[in-house]
Amino acid sequence: MTSDMQALLQPFLEESEPKRGLPAAAYRDVEFWIAECQSVFARNWVCIGFAHELKQAGDVVPVTVAGQPLLMVRNGSGEIKAFHNVCRHRCLTLVDKPGNVGKLIRCPYHAWAYDLNGTLRASPHFGGTGLHEAKGFDKSRNGLVPVRTHVWQDWVFVNVSGEAPQFEDYAGSLIKRLGGINWETVDSIGTLDFGEISTNWKFIMENFIEPYHVQFVHSSTTDQPLSDHYTIIDGNCMGSAVDLDEEVGTSGSLAVSSRYLALYPNFILGRYFPDQLGVYLNIPTGPGTMNQKRGLYTTGGKRLSANEIEDLKRLWWDVHKEDHEMVERLQAGRASRVSDTGGVLSPVWEDSVHAFQSLVARDLIGQRGN
Ligand code: FES
Ligand SMILES: [Fe+2]
Repeated sequence: MTSDMQALLQPFLEESEPKRGLPAAAYRDVEFWIAECQSVFARNWVCIGFAHELKQAGDVVPVTVAGQPLLMVRNGSGEIKAFHNVCRHRCLTLVDKPGNVGKLIRCPYHAWAYDLNGTLRASPHFGGTGLHEAKGFDKSRNGLVPVRTHVWQDWVFVNVSGEAPQFEDYAGSLIKRLGGINWETVDSIGTLDFGEISTNWKFIMENFIEPYHVQFVHSSTTDQPLSDHYTIIDGNCMGSAVDLDEEVGTSGSLAVSSRYLALYPNFILGRYFPDQLGVYLNIPTGPGTMNQKRGLYTTGGKRLSANEIEDLKRLWWDVHKEDHEMVERLQAGRASRVSDTGGVLSPVWEDSVHAFQSLVARDLIGQRGN
């Protein structure tokens, strides 16, 4: 991190009442983005996919997270593994779209082939016609480069640096807040794909974990009074919650007790009592762009009709779109000099946002030891 970046972060790091947000540059500048790729997205457990999108052995899903082309693979033993999505010959990206590769991942350029565990099985004619070996070339040292992977329920996480704590410890503060869920009875009932959103990934996270905007932005889709919300700050988990006395319906508008929980840096899980979960797959793609999907789940074996599922999808599509409009305008506002010092955060409703931003700042300046 350069001294210029350090200077830009300084106002955020200084004590102030109320607290300031991160500087505009942290959302806009390529230098910050590159620094985040090397710190935030390398050192932590980053969610990169839904396990249910890799059903069969040989299913592959490429994903580029924070500049790194990665590949998820379901192997012959049913495990999901992640590798750098790069051929060891000339470093071409290997797989460019989701699909099933059968038993071998074959590079389209010179037909090197890797098995589903990443072992290099073929390097045709590398040493000359009919000669597949060459002096000094050791096939066993040229397999796909693995990435540390952990599949928690339906969600695939990677830790690119390999140095983060064990996932259960890293995510302990989130997991303990999900008590009472019988994970055996969680069913994936659909996925919404929102494609690209023109915002920095941090705005999506910040928006999710503060309850302040809900009454204004979601007035037609939700019915959760602000006064019933409280924020949650607990290690790598932060968010907000609302406890309502009465639980109302599963469609139309959202008026149920909820937990809005984020696991730093990019994982979001909403729990809607009594029997629903929603998980956001947030894939940052650049300083001002990201892709998003939402996975919808029922818990406790709850069965919904096709119509109920369609209603739920419509509701969530609308809620996300309401948020997307706001986060895109947050991003647009970062072109203004007024945003250089980050705006101000509510000490009550946005302390969770400040906690999230502090983790980012500490990762950037190298003060967050893993
Ligand atoms: S780059 Fe993959 S086989 Fe040549
Ligand atoms: Fe929202």
